[in-house]
Amino acid sequence: MKTIEELLAEGVDGKRVFVRADLNVPLADGIITDDGRIRAVLPTVKALVAAGAKVVVASHLGRPKGAPDPAFSLLPAAERLGELLGGPVAFAQDTVGPAAHEAVDGLQPGQVAVIENLRFNPGETSKDDTERGEFADRLAALADIYVGDGFGAVHRKHASVYDLPARLPHYAGYLIATEVGVLKKLTEDVQRPYVVVLGGAKVSDKLGVIDHLLEKADRILIGGGMVFTFLKAQGHEIGTSLVQEDQISAVREYLTRAKERGVEFVLPVDVLTAPEFPDLKSKAPAHPNTVAADAMPDDQMGLDIGPESRKLYASKLADAATVFWNGPMGVFEHPDYAEGTKAVAQALLDSRAFTVVGGGDSAAAVRILGFDEQAFGHISTGGGASLEYLEGKTLPGLAALEN
Ligand code: 3PG
Repeated sequence: MKTIEELLAEGVDGKRVFVRADLNVPLADGIITDDGRIRAVLPTVKALVAAGAKVVVASHLGRPKGAPDPAFSLLPAAERLGELLGGPVAFAQDTVGPAAHEAVDGLQPGQVAVIENLRFNPGETSKDDTERGEFADRLAALADIYVGDGFGAVHRKHASVYDLPARLPHYAGYLIATEVGVLKKLTEDVQRPYVVVLGGAKVSDKLGVIDHLLEKADRILIGGGMVFTFLKAQGHEIGTSLVQEDQISAVREYLTRAKERGVEFVLPVDVLTAPEFPDLKSKAPAHPNTVAADAMPDDQMGLDIGPESRKLYASKLADAATVFWNGPMGVFEHPDYAEGTKAVAQALLDSRAFTVVGGGDSAAAVRILGFDEQAFGHISTGGGASLEYLEGKTLPGLAALEN
């Protein structure tokens, strides 16, 4: 994989460089609530600007249906990028149409343009190679060189991630180089004990990685909505909690395999419950109950791990040499259900382990809950991408940069 260092050594002065970033940031009423992904691409954009490139930044945001939709405009992300760069960036209101060409043609060396959400064009995500290829051809007309730096999207076989690099000289940006370097440490020669903390709502999202980690990890701690499918698989009542009935047999098989392989599976011993899901807008006090994980009332749902579980999880992290964490422990967006996630974050800070926080919600949780992100070994910008990397899958966006 050629990196941006090599590109800079070759020289980019006056060249049009297409940077595929992942600016898929969370928005609430048009306001960015966590700009971590925009900050993460700054080193690449700044280096290209300093070297006199004409920089074209592109990304997806959300999952629009292949047509323009103002709710998913990249404009707020473009504006934030301009603020962080300390200068204006041009914004094109289309992806490959006249506005994009006008914005790119108007760039002087060292200037930046952002084009509109790539997913406003059906070719970006199409399963049809020809349709994707046609969109990639039109994107290629905007640039001389491709830099892949959208780590969060490298697991997607999308036009701008997979097909476009095949059409232009291509390089990995600083973010992708860093992310891959860190994840390699978790797959090759990992320092033990290797403890994995998995949270989030759905077991089905994590099946592949659990399957793979049963061969690699020494201990797996489970949190989030997934917990209740595990508890049910163990024969416990889970009240009205989230459950994926169709995953129960898979979960049972994992529990058996873990036992056979000597991998410790850790589930909460107590949980916070309430009759209903909390109001995340008003954040009105939810008055949760603390109950034993094997004695959940019929009319209550589990929303976070409980105080004994926090202690248990902290103790299971204390001696770790390597930790990978993906997914919050509870509904951390509500203060009454944030303690489980906070406890895991704090345990990681207290431990001497090399820690990787894997993307999406857990990375946002760390920042939103007020932890200093610099204190963690590495906070990945890619949730799905880092999980698929750990599963040992070939990621289309990385394969494309390697060819
Ligand atoms: C992410 O948020 O994980 C990436 O930006 C990829 O987004 P996607 O899951 O909509 O493809």
